[in-house]
Amino acid sequence: MRTVLGIESSCDETAAALVTDGRVILAQRIASQDDAHRPYGGVVPEIAARAHAERLAPLIAATLADAGMTLDDVDAIAATAGPGLIGGVMVGLVTAKALAMAADKPLIAVNHLEGHALSPRLADASLAYPYLLLLVSGGHCQILLVEGVGSFRRLATTIDDALGEAFDKSAKVLGLGYPGGPALERLALQGDARKVPLPRPLKGSDEPHFSFAGLKSAVLRAKQSGDYADADIAASFQQAAIDCLVDRTGRALGKVGTVNALVVAGGVAANTAIRSALEALAARHGLPFIAPPMQLCTDNAAMIAWAGVERLEQGQNDPLDVAARPRWPLDPAADVVRGAGVKA
Ligand code: KG4
Ligand code: ZN
Repeated sequence: MRTVLGIESSCDETAAALVTDGRVILAQRIASQDDAHRPYGGVVPEIAARAHAERLAPLIAATLADAGMTLDDVDAIAATAGPGLIGGVMVGLVTAKALAMAADKPLIAVNHLEGHALSPRLADASLAYPYLLLLVSGGHCQILLVEGVGSFRRLATTIDDALGEAFDKSAKVLGLGYPGGPALERLALQGDARKVPLPRPLKGSDEPHFSFAGLKSAVLRAKQSGDYADADIAASFQQAAIDCLVDRTGRALGKVGTVNALVVAGGVAANTAIRSALEALAARHGLPFIAPPMQLCTDNAAMIAWAGVERLEQGQNDPLDVAARPRWPLDPAADVVRGAGVKA
């Protein structure tokens, strides 16, 4: 049995986890920084980096203690090396390098997006490559063909905002505070999705991509009009987002060839209404639908440790001078799309 220590610090969660190649999460801890960023309505990179620096070392020590292990018992140390807020990424990666050097263990520099992309395989041993992945988080909205470790074909991306960003900004417009996605989902439960006419950008379009900026702006106009209840705006926004996701993902499923499953991952995959809609879509295509448990959807270190396990199994690790990368696409060959360039 091999065990990997995973470290995550690319956004506003400081996290450590110990995961085995037998898919057992021996221990994991997550320190959320929500309280530190809430007054600003979003993540402040400098505050995040400082908080990671303060919290990470004791968090790793506590995670090892939870599992009754020491560094000598782990087989490799995996840390997010990008993409993300570079100050936080560097805290995690430098810590991992120091531990790897001190304990003489291999270092594995993990792409945060690969962590999300492979997390469904940690939760479900039956999920085999290739699969079609809808990756929806605060910074990304992509459809990927996942062919193996480090082997991704990006079939679609957003030309403007990520879906999590649209959730968070719409939540802010509705006065729901930060982080907004889960709060908006709760409010939507009390609303009527037919009440507010909102656009479905690119729905039915020939091109593969997503767009959410127009939807986000329409939410702002609906709120400013004073004509609608907040819960109805929330429900209508969520339904419009779902219609876009189902349309775009359905298009990709129709074009991609043979895959073993439709999979969703990333923070927005914690949304129950989105999961149900995608499950129905997969069923219409005769495919299994796989979504990781909620706590593996939002940022965590178990997914980073698991990506480390998969890389270790391929005999891969990284030199101690490996660089942190603020941008790191999963599919470097993918085209830069119109309107892109704002997000990694
Ligand atoms: O993957 P993640 O934790 O961090 C990034 O790598 O971006 O995703 C965070 C995003 C945030 O935008 C958050 O609002 C959204 O995921 N999110 C949700 C829900 N839970 C988290 N969006 C909609 N519904 C939810 N239940
Ligand atoms: Zn993430």
